[in-house]
Amino acid sequence: MYTEKVMDHFKNPRNVGEIENASGVGTVGNAKCGDIMQIFLDIDENEIIRDVKFKTFGCGAAVATSSMATEMIKGKSVNEALKITNAAVVEALEGLPPQKIHCSVLAEEAVKAAIEDYMKKKAEAGAKGATD
Ligand code: FES
Repeated sequence: MYTEKVMDHFKNPRNVGEIENASGVGTVGNAKCGDIMQIFLDIDENEIIRDVKFKTFGCGAAVATSSMATEMIKGKSVNEALKITNAAVVEALEGLPPQKIHCSVLAEEAVKAAIEDYMKKKAEAGAKGATD
């Protein structure tokens, strides 16, 4: 049912873990299956994703899609990472069964949530700097 790529990323997930004092953290969940995905970003001053880690409490496809998504955005700019779609993640994994597509949506949402968190923190830091 799963492609070799999916099995590979499921068995040997890349970038598992957490980043302390991350530039942005995104946590998303799917209410139906109860799976949760968390993405941590370390973003440098040029808005390049220097490092990315993830933790997924969920199904095999959720682990594989989050692993692949982290590989796809590592070293990219924030703007490029925002363009990553779940379809691109599925394509990179050479396909997912139809009933598992929602798992890849979670990966896209987690990346976006982490970037939104980064932008929010940046705006807050900017506002604070302005009033200091
Ligand atoms: Fe829920 Fe895969 S079954 S994320």
